[in-house]
Amino acid sequence: MFWRPVFLSLLFLGGVHPVFGDFPRKEPISPIPAPPAEDPRKIALGKRLFQDPQLSQDGTISCERCHRLAEGGHDPRPFSKGVGGALGSVNAPTVYNSSLNLAQFWDGRASSLEEQIDGPLQNPVEMAMSWPEVLRRLRADATYQQAFRALYPDGITAANVRDAIAAFERSLLTWNAPFDRWLRGDKTALSPQALQGYELFQSYGCIACHQGANVGGNLYQEMGAMGDYFADRGTPITRSDLGRFNVTGRPEDRHFFKVPSLRLAVRTAPYFHDASAKTLEEAIRLMARYQLGREIPDAHIPPIIAFLQSLMGTHPLLRP
Ligand code: HEC
Ligand code: HEC
Repeated sequence: MFWRPVFLSLLFLGGVHPVFGDFPRKEPISPIPAPPAEDPRKIALGKRLFQDPQLSQDGTISCERCHRLAEGGHDPRPFSKGVGGALGSVNAPTVYNSSLNLAQFWDGRASSLEEQIDGPLQNPVEMAMSWPEVLRRLRADATYQQAFRALYPDGITAANVRDAIAAFERSLLTWNAPFDRWLRGDKTALSPQALQGYELFQSYGCIACHQGANVGGNLYQEMGAMGDYFADRGTPITRSDLGRFNVTGRPEDRHFFKVPSLRLAVRTAPYFHDASAKTLEEAIRLMARYQLGREIPDAHIPPIIAFLQSLMGTHPLLRP
């Protein structure tokens, strides 16, 4: 008689509770976790490999060329240029926090960071390399030989190169964002404008797709769930536009993409797999229109941007 309503009211998870007041609710976004414990020498080796242009056929293109660690871990060019100026067909996303994603690439075709590395390395429009050639070059360098031998009994192998780069990438977490401090109980960490932005982000329904620790990265969703984005874009549909369909071959996966993380969205213009949105404001408006079937009034844009700003944490390699 008495306990039943108390029990039911404990299930109340949203906002200010009628009886208990500001009842701590379960937020749909969680803080970026601490990075996994790792040998700092392995992270240093992975970083060196990530920044080494020798990993590309003509010795000019490192991973960092398309994933600029100081800027946002992404490529500010709409489409990256690989060996010989060859152009890619999708925008290069950030490598920060990518270890938190359910899979790698826009279409999720690589299930781990280790597996992902073979993609750019062997892609003719990226690094255009082969493993035997990578290993030949690394083995010719005494400092690489020494660094690998100190960490791996079998020295320089493809598996160990993947392991070191992936270990470096797992260290690329952006900690201590104002929003995460707020989640942990520091109620002064968010400005009233950012807090209003978070409320709007939830009430519009952005949160249905962009959620979890990475504010994205944990679902596949259709681009154009509420409107025909590709018809309105006005350029022919490319193979890359088919997204997840290219991996599964299932017609219902056409135009589905891994929902991108918004953790560094304030840094990673241009937006979308096709780089069609030049600014964050444009991306937010297109999202509201095509994912939610709504138009966002001008006054709601700055608070949503202030909220997105609060999602950005720090990393020693990321320019503050
Ligand atoms: C020529 C530019 C270029 C180079 C060089 C490059 N990448 Fe990328 N990277 C991209 C593009 C473009 C994508 C998106 C491709 C896709 O989704 O189909 C991507 C995607 C990724 C992703 C997936 C992120 C996510 O959230 O899905 C990771 C991780 C990554 N690259 C790491 C690397 C590593 C490690 C190297 C070096 C071995 C590297 N990249 C070299 C352009 C590049
Ligand atoms: C139905 C799921 C869904 C909803 C709802 C949704 N998004 Fe997205 N969002 C996506 C997908 C999928 C993409 C990638 C689309 C593409 O690249 O073609 C994306 C991309 C983005 C990007 C670009 C990120 C980048 O790095 O390129 C931003 C910014 C963004 N969304 C913000 C929002 C905001 C703000 C809202 C609410 C107004 C919202 N989204 C609602 C699924 C959704």
